[in-house]
Amino acid sequence: MTLQIAPSVLAADFARLADEAALVADTADWLHIDVMDGHFVPNLTIGLPVVAALLKQAALPLDCHLMIADPDRWAPDYASAGARNVTIHAEAAKAPVRTLRAIRAAGARAGLAVNPGTAVEPYADLLPELDMLLVMTVEPGFGGQRFLDLVLPKVRRARDLIARHGGEIWLQVDGGVTEETIERCAEAGADVFVSGTGVFGAQDPGAAVERLRAAATAAWRRGGGSGG
Ligand code: DX5
Ligand code: ZN
Repeated sequence: MTLQIAPSVLAADFARLADEAALVADTADWLHIDVMDGHFVPNLTIGLPVVAALLKQAALPLDCHLMIADPDRWAPDYASAGARNVTIHAEAAKAPVRTLRAIRAAGARAGLAVNPGTAVEPYADLLPELDMLLVMTVEPGFGGQRFLDLVLPKVRRARDLIARHGGEIWLQVDGGVTEETIERCAEAGADVFVSGTGVFGAQDPGAAVERLRAAATAAWRRGGGSGG
């Protein structure tokens, strides 16, 4: 397992996206982009044109988290545009296998996300189609929400499913991940950590990424590095 940090630009200054992205370019692994359409979630953020513009500027690979009602229609376009990872929601996709394959065919890693109230077990058979599983640790739609501890048992079950499957599938957590909560996520078996407010709400976002990484690394060491 490789520990990775993905700052979410949802908490950055949207008028200065490229400058904000540059602040974490040396310390983070990914730039997490929350695409919201005002239908799947109540909030409306950015879409393909802004992602395409950011792709020209950002040094980090883009991790696009699609919180949209019709991911089957749009997800492959984000991959074709150059996003390195594209994650669709299990609750929204009508043809997840086809869409996950289309994402991979377009050259990106394919991710599947589940909301706090959605079980992972029904998606166990889809693991061969996945490069990453995202377990939401808040209800999607807004940054700055309180971390939901009730999701941690599911993170553990997701790690067990992945271990049993045997493939190299990353396990991402997103929502309320801060210096205070990241250790619990790491102990439960997560290896990719999204943080918006925890990074861009800090005075020095680049240093905040380092602190998050240090906290998660310490939690892994305590747990013997297995995440369990
Ligand atoms: C929530 C988004 C998250 C959000 C996380 O729907 O998917 O990526 O930006 O923000 P924080 O870390 O502030 O909870
Ligand atoms: Zn997100």
